[in-house]
Amino acid sequence: MKKNTVTLTDNRTGETYEYNIINASRGPSVLDIRTFFADTGMFTYDPGFTATAACDSTITFIDGTKGELRYRGIPIEELANKHSYLETCFLLLNSRLPFKEELTDFDLEIRHRAYLHRGLRKLFDAFPDNAHPMATLSAAVTSLASFYNEHLDMEDENEYLEMAHRIISKIPTIAAFAYRHFLGIPFIEPDLDLSFTKNFLTMMRAYPGGKMHLLPNGHAAIKEVEVRALDTIFTLHADHEQNASTTVVRGVASTGAHPYVAIASGIAALWGRAHGGANESVIAQLEHIGSVDNVEAFIEKAKDPNDDFRLMGFGHRVYKNFDPRAKILKKLQDELREELNLDTELMTIARKIEEITLSDEYFISRNLYPNIDFYTGIILTALQIPKSMFTPIFVIGRTVGWITQWIEFKKDETSKIARPRQLYTGE
Ligand code: ACO
Repeated sequence: MKKNTVTLTDNRTGETYEYNIINASRGPSVLDIRTFFADTGMFTYDPGFTATAACDSTITFIDGTKGELRYRGIPIEELANKHSYLETCFLLLNSRLPFKEELTDFDLEIRHRAYLHRGLRKLFDAFPDNAHPMATLSAAVTSLASFYNEHLDMEDENEYLEMAHRIISKIPTIAAFAYRHFLGIPFIEPDLDLSFTKNFLTMMRAYPGGKMHLLPNGHAAIKEVEVRALDTIFTLHADHEQNASTTVVRGVASTGAHPYVAIASGIAALWGRAHGGANESVIAQLEHIGSVDNVEAFIEKAKDPNDDFRLMGFGHRVYKNFDPRAKILKKLQDELREELNLDTELMTIARKIEEITLSDEYFISRNLYPNIDFYTGIILTALQIPKSMFTPIFVIGRTVGWITQWIEFKKDETSKIARPRQLYTGE
């Protein structure tokens, strides 16, 4: 009779050990090795967690081979094309899309919570001029924990949802303030009359007093097409299962620290250029390449095993066919090219890199395709958003994912403190 188990044999002793397979609802099943150390006296070895599931989850599903991404079972293409970022937030937190009235209530609550405590505003003054917005953002989110120490009762759904709504709502204000501090210009308060995404763009762009730049042609200073593009970018970043920063958030959650501190740790992890910092590095790299004539030389550098230069915005640990988010953004970028004046020198360089890499054996054999950061960098540049704000924009989108994962971790009665083992090779 077939059994849903795997038997491992220690070839030194001939001893065998049997482990249960836990079936997934989608994607790979897992081998339950929780008793492995007790059984064998050995640890398993998996640096970078390439084959290790550290939790079970119902939030996000990725099939890296097929290039599939779903939030709560709904394909990312459907969410990006038919729903707003706030609907996506509601979906992640509540496991279903909102009804019309629920969305109105949720939207209003998020608008009303966007203001910052007077004490928190003083924090920005402590940072030097030109402080990178990611540093300011992370510190300000840590300090939020000192202002809001309640609403952590996991038995009371209203309490922890309030805690989640507050952070989703305040993150754009903190990010915009961090940016304006970086520029040395007065903060713009949130505007209750504006949607989540338009409000963020306004807090970034408006003149003191909230006045918008007047265009001689009478066009609105914030085009609806820009709001749609940024809203889609938020949706595509909203969650990505157990990526590096989410793993950090769950790790901090496992110690019992405040959820906003866990999110601040996620922000720190996201900053690195192997992760969310790649979007800033993509544009820095395109600027460094400088001209379409230099592209081939840089591609050769990226392929040289003796050179540690990497093409930013290429490759992914999980997607080995294509990144579905990149596909959506490429389409968006093509649609918006004319309206957002995308035909710049940077755009031409980017297109040339894309063209060469898609037919080059080095990139094809290693499954290196443009990832989400490649196209986000280009679209955000077209939205006149400076490079230093690219990763904070990733943070705005991802905050809902981090807090949803935090809640899932807290509700899981089998969860334990994160404490990996090691292979000791020292003296
Ligand atoms: N440019 C050139 N070569 C690359 C690149 C790249 N961007 N990425 C991977 N490779 C090569 C490696 O040199 C290696 O080649 P080898 O087998 O000849 O030694 C092979 O591809 C596999 O690379 P790994 O580093 O083992 O792949 P891993 O899955 O660990 O890394 C990562 C994934 C970190 C994303 C990597 O591809 C990378 O550094 N990309 C550039 C940074 C980037 O765009 N990060 C954003 C990721 S998406 C996100 O976080 C939102």
